[in-house]
Amino acid sequence: MQGSLHPDIESVLLSQKDIEVIVEKMGRQITEDYAGKNPLIVTVLRGAFVFTADLLRKVEIPCAVDFMAVSSYGDGVKSSGVVRIVKDLDTKIEGRHVIIAEDILDSGLTLSYLMDLFAARNPASIEVAAFAVKDIPGKTPKIEPRYVGAHVPNEFIVGYGLDYAERYRNLPYVGILKPEVYS
Ligand code: PRP
Repeated sequence: MQGSLHPDIESVLLSQKDIEVIVEKMGRQITEDYAGKNPLIVTVLRGAFVFTADLLRKVEIPCAVDFMAVSSYGDGVKSSGVVRIVKDLDTKIEGRHVIIAEDILDSGLTLSYLMDLFAARNPASIEVAAFAVKDIPGKTPKIEPRYVGAHVPNEFIVGYGLDYAERYRNLPYVGILKPEVYS
């Protein structure tokens, strides 16, 4: 049964069906682009674990997965400006084709930090698959992901792995959080 809308959610931005279509397309593109390359898909925990789990099952070529845990937001709604490594990769990426899977690209701080960190380890290539990219008026993101699922407005969104104070990651859709919840 499709659950009803969570009372803290103002409106649904991306439904389960929208998400399915988006992720399937991204998986298809990666399947075509990385044939014969055995890419390493790096999940940026925690938010991206839901997206990566779905994406991985739409990639129809041999690939590996590893996990990186970073945090820049803590429990707040604004980036602290500092990216903290909570868990590094277990895989050596030298000579590997790396795809960083992120749930959301907001200021781009997290991804540009990770790109620099990984680039120093001499991978064969490094690209980004971002499920959502926030459109911030007047701002050009620091990073241009090769794969973009959806452009989303500059609202506080949660669900499908995205949290506010560790809540709402389990919502099966992406929704806009009611301002009274975080203000
Ligand atoms: C969120 C999100 C991205 C990052 C994007 O992570 O998952 O990693 O913020 O923002 P940026 O483009 O402004 O850097 P968060 O630090 O909230 O940790 P989480 O993944 O554990 O939710």
